[in-house]
Amino acid sequence: MSVRGHGMPKAGANSRNGGDEAERGKLSISNLSFAYGKAKVLDEVSLQINRGEIVALIGPNGSGKTTLLKCANRLLRTRNGTIDIAGDDLRRLRQWQIAERVSYVPQAADIVYPMTVFESVMLGLRRGSWHYSARDMAKVASTLEQLGLDSMSHKLLTELSGGQRQKAAIARALVRETPFLLLDEPTNHLDMKHKRDTIQILRRHSRGHNQGILIVLHEINLAVQLADRIALLEGGRIVAEGPPDKVITHDHIRAAYAVEVNMTSHAGLPFVIGYRIENEH
Ligand SMILES: Nc1ncnc2c1ncn2[C@@H]1O[C@H](COP(=O)(O)OP(=O)(O)OP(=O)(O)O)[C@@H](O)[C@H]1O
Ligand SMILES: [Mg+2]
Repeated sequence: MSVRGHGMPKAGANSRNGGDEAERGKLSISNLSFAYGKAKVLDEVSLQINRGEIVALIGPNGSGKTTLLKCANRLLRTRNGTIDIAGDDLRRLRQWQIAERVSYVPQAADIVYPMTVFESVMLGLRRGSWHYSARDMAKVASTLEQLGLDSMSHKLLTELSGGQRQKAAIARALVRETPFLLLDEPTNHLDMKHKRDTIQILRRHSRGHNQGILIVLHEINLAVQLADRIALLEGGRIVAEGPPDKVITHDHIRAAYAVEVNMTSHAGLPFVIGYRIENEH
C-alpha cells in the first residue's frame, strides 16, 4: 500500500502516561469550558468514555452537545480544561493522530458531493494518498452490507434519501475502526426499523472492535436501550450522569426539558411514554 501510512503511535511513544493501559482505554474530558466569543456554552464539563462502552449525550436544543463533540475532536480549540484521548492530551496530538483515534459523524451532514456511496465510505480510509488496498475495498463492501447499503453502493450521494445518506455517513465512520466514535444525532433521519438496525450495529461495533462511542440522541427511549451510561447536558453543564435508570427520571426530564412526561419501566429500563399537549382555549 503506497500510503504515507502512519500507524497508531507505539505504546508509550507519544504518551506522557507511558505504559498506563487504563489511560489508553479512555477518552477523558475534564473540567472543560468553552465559549463562542463571550457566550459561555460549556461550563466545567467532565465526562469519560471507556473503550467498549456507549455513552449517550442528551439534552435540550442549544445545551452544548454538538459543541462538546467538536471540542473532543479539536474542531473547536479549547483553553480551559483538558481532553485526553487514549492517554494523550488532545492539544499535543497532530491532526492525523486524532484522526486515527476518533471518527466523527457531524449533525445533519447535508452537504453532499456527487460521488458514489462506495467512494464516500472509501474516503473514511484515506491515509494521505488515494491508493487503496484490496483489503480496504473488502472493508468498505462489508460495512456497506452491514448497513444494508450494498445495493446502492454505486449510486451517487446526491441521489439518496436523507436516511440513506445518513447511513452512508455512519458507514464512513464505522469503516475506520478507530478506538473512539463521536456521533451527533446519527439516526434522526432514520425510520423505526433502520434506527433499530443502526443501534444494533453500533452496539456490535462497540463490543466487537472495543470502541468507545459518544452518541448524541434526542430520542430518550433509544438512548436508554443503547447506552451503558447517559449524560444529560443542560445549559452547558452535565446535570445528571450514570446508568439509564438513574438519569431518565421524571424529575430530571422536567428540570431539563420543562415538560411533564409520563413514564413506565420495562425489563428494568425506564421508558418515556409521552406527554400531553394542552389545548389552548
Ligand atoms: N459557531 C457558533 N457561533 C456562536 N454560537 C454558536 C455557534 N455554534 C453554536 N452556538 C451556540 O452555542 C450553543 C450550543 O450550541 P450546540 O450546537 O452545541 O447545541 P446542541 O446541544 O447541539 O443543540 P441541538 O440539540 O439543537 O443540536 C447555542 O446557544 C448556539 O446558539
Ligand atoms: Mg447539536
